[in-house]
Amino acid sequence: MNKIPLKEQSIVLIGFMGVGKTTIGQVVAQKLYRDFIDIDEEIERRFQMPPRDIFAKYGETVFRQHEKEIIFEMCHKRLKVISLGGGAFLQKEIQDICLATTTIFFLDLTWDKWKDRIGLLIDSRPVLQGKNMDEIKQLFDDRQPIYEQHHSRVITDDQEVEEVADYIVDSLKLAWELYA
Ligand code: S3P
Repeated sequence: MNKIPLKEQSIVLIGFMGVGKTTIGQVVAQKLYRDFIDIDEEIERRFQMPPRDIFAKYGETVFRQHEKEIIFEMCHKRLKVISLGGGAFLQKEIQDICLATTTIFFLDLTWDKWKDRIGLLIDSRPVLQGKNMDEIKQLFDDRQPIYEQHHSRVITDDQEVEEVADYIVDSLKLAWELYA
């Protein structure tokens, strides 16, 4: 497979659920005049039901298989901004394909800030359901190492969506200039 030139690579956003990958991704896509793709929405379109119902009806393994298939399809498209579900990087093959074909930004939010968002997330995120706060904190901590596979980290604590998007766009422009 030919290496995709840096400037044409799709931008991939990773990070724990609810850190703002979709919201920030949409703004980054607008600023770069690119299409935005949300992998969870693509899975939802395929099944005609949200992830919570896919987990309940078919189980997590089926969800993860489709997640992988769709990400493999999308990674070969150029000039997109793609938001991944928070569990996608649990699969090493997904990490590898994204590292090889896209530019990956890790949206990093501390536990202290993240835990304030839990009320907004709990109903729609199957992996949080049935867990107490300690177990959710454990999941948060366990997931952090998988996000270390990235090209750039963005600290999102106390940052507005617009500020994070601007940071991503500015750092991309710099990288494109430096490494063109
Ligand atoms: C998941 C995160 C969700 C979604 C699914 C599983 C996870 O996406 O893919 O509920 O395992 O962390 P978001 O990160 O967009 O919430």
